Amino acid sequence: MDELSRRRMLITGGALGALGALGAATPAGARPLWTWAPSGSVAGKGAGLDPEWVWDEEADPVLAAVIERGDTAKANEVLRKWTRNDQPLPAGLPADLRDFMERARQLPSWTDRRKLDAAAQFTKKKGIYAGALYGLGSGLMSTAIPREARAVYYSKGGADMKDRIAKTAQLGYDVGDLDAYQPQGGMIVTAVKTRLVHAAVRHLLPQSPGWSQTSGGQTIPISQADIMVTWHSLSTFVMRKLIDWRVPVSSTESDGFLHVWQVTAHMLGVQDEYIPASWNEANAQAAQVLDPRLAATPEGKELTDVLLDIVAELDAGLTRPLINAFGRYTLGDRTGDLIGLDREPFWQPLIAAAWPLLVAFREGLIPLPLVPQAAWAVEEAIRKFVLLFLAEGRGIHLEIPDTNRPS
Ligand code: HEM
Repeated sequence: MDELSRRRMLITGGALGALGALGAATPAGARPLWTWAPSGSVAGKGAGLDPEWVWDEEADPVLAAVIERGDTAKANEVLRKWTRNDQPLPAGLPADLRDFMERARQLPSWTDRRKLDAAAQFTKKKGIYAGALYGLGSGLMSTAIPREARAVYYSKGGADMKDRIAKTAQLGYDVGDLDAYQPQGGMIVTAVKTRLVHAAVRHLLPQSPGWSQTSGGQTIPISQADIMVTWHSLSTFVMRKLIDWRVPVSSTESDGFLHVWQVTAHMLGVQDEYIPASWNEANAQAAQVLDPRLAATPEGKELTDVLLDIVAELDAGLTRPLINAFGRYTLGDRTGDLIGLDREPFWQPLIAAAWPLLVAFREGLIPLPLVPQAAWAVEEAIRKFVLLFLAEGRGIHLEIPDTNRPS
């Protein structure tokens, strides 16, 4: 694949993957007990409080004050000018917001440049799989994470999903970018802005009757536990599938990919004691917070439809059966059923047979003639996604919301 195509692939994968980032309410009683120990975290220690009851004590009061004072529009105008990691914060931000952002933009002391470089190597070599998995796995899975689906649905962005997707794409793009946390990259900016958006949503959503009636007893959205659910739907899910698909990934690359996501969790305001230190710890935490939480909701189903409509718009129907089938292949039939993906009796067995061969060919394990035609059709469909999101995600700005979805 040439450089441009590869880059586009990453953008699209990231774009849809960041949908995993789209905003979670299981029935209150359905939550398993939090027993994951802080000894398995990057901090190595901590109070061990259930992150269900932890939000963002630094950002939340600042954003509530900005919104209540009516400073949101002014702040957004200034924030548009902040695009690069190494750029000073532009003048004109409200003082409290500026002070918070100066602190929030600092990378954690445990950032390991060599590991970030390894993450870039991982992206170069395995980006095609990560892209397909973010896009057709994590992105669709997000609609089966009840709290995420509902928060997105009832927040301002829920009213215009296409715009929302384009904005969320920025994070997927930046996290996969080779320069992500380099001075010239944009991931610090994107993560800090996202932290601001989440803090604003924590202030706004409790005022939404639609959200309050469906929140399963949660009074403030986007807890640290919720963020880790979404985090696993992106990072842990991708690594699990790469192993399932027998994609060879060196331990250096695998550690690098974990690291870029650890740093990202920190930059999104997650406390270090909740960020897994290893893939084993990540898997253990995911088994507690992600796997049991997947469930169907009316809001999630509606969001899946919107997503698939966007895909259909792209390709006049040809891609949709492929997307359904590939989505079911990556997510499994249980999640496929939860989000209402159509079953595809023609494509599903074909993909199940062809995809492992395509992986084996790409990894130099089998010769080309053994790869069936259908595998290339799948690749082509994924490439079309890429093109769409390349166009959609360009030049967009993450903005602090000051209202909910109009009811
Ligand atoms: C906004 C990423 C977790 C709910 C955003 C945006 C990004 C993002 C990039 C900005 C897009 C925009 O402004 O439209 C992430 C990442 C997460 C995460 C990377 C975890 C690793 C969550 C969770 C929830 C959530 C767990 C809810 C339970 C929302 C909502 C918005 C938002 C409601 C604002 C939408 C609006 O503008 O109305 N997120 N997010 N996010 N996120 Fe997240």
